[in-house]
Amino acid sequence: MGPDVTPEPAGDDAQARPSRTASAASAGPTTANAFRILLVYATRHGSTVEVADAIAEELRSGGNEVDQRPAAEAPSPAGYDAVVVGGPMIMGWHREAARFVTRHRADLERLPTALFITAASLTETGESDVQGVPIVKDPWLAKAPRDAAKLRYKERYALPQHYLGAVLKKAAPGRPRSVAFFAGSLDLTTMNLFEKAFVLLVIGATPGDGRNWKAIREWGAGLGEVLTA
Ligand SMILES: Cc1cc2nc3c(=O)[nH]c(=O)nc-3n(C[C@H](O)[C@H](O)[C@H](O)COP(=O)(O)O)c2cc1C
Repeated sequence: MGPDVTPEPAGDDAQARPSRTASAASAGPTTANAFRILLVYATRHGSTVEVADAIAEELRSGGNEVDQRPAAEAPSPAGYDAVVVGGPMIMGWHREAARFVTRHRADLERLPTALFITAASLTETGESDVQGVPIVKDPWLAKAPRDAAKLRYKERYALPQHYLGAVLKKAAPGRPRSVAFFAGSLDLTTMNLFEKAFVLLVIGATPGDGRNWKAIREWGAGLGEVLTA
């Protein structure tokens, strides 16, 4: 199987954590003409919700109004000023995040959009964009291959263009203004046997919480400017 084959996730992708409802997530004062951002997230085991929380916090401290919703329950982006969609790699980008992007691609083409992807592995080959879309790579996640001239299967699988290429296809003709890749969190105790086998044997991931809050917050803090530009 080559790296351009991204299987759809197996099993159910039920949200493992309670969703941040609009009211809980938007608590706090907002101004009538604040820039309104819809922040949509998906998660398999819960850690990406906290990444979304941190990004929402940064956007709010920049004066934006953020409506943070789980992808499965997210409203149409119509009526918002910008959209951020995030989710983990779960043998391909999380199904709910991908579905949201596909379903709303007409709106997303009109609106400034950014994506974030949490993952357990990413191969660093020095690129700063995928198909012209600027990418930001968490240094805790991106790892140089053993031999850049001869990538191993799992290194090819974890190339930014492999992960993101499939997502951009779903978003087309819209193009996100920025895509961030962040190290996620792998808790083997929450995984079934199949999931464990995949993350350990196929992608060679290291269990543990690898989230780099500095990198996440930095991207979130600069995002308002990227989306309003
Ligand atoms: C079944 C499964 C498949 C995964 N597939 C990938 C993958 O293809 N590439 C990758 O880099 N990480 C992969 N991961 C790691 C997750 O992206 C990472 O653990 C993420 O932080 C999980 O986010 P969550 O806690 O919000 O579900 C996988 C994890 C699981 C459980």
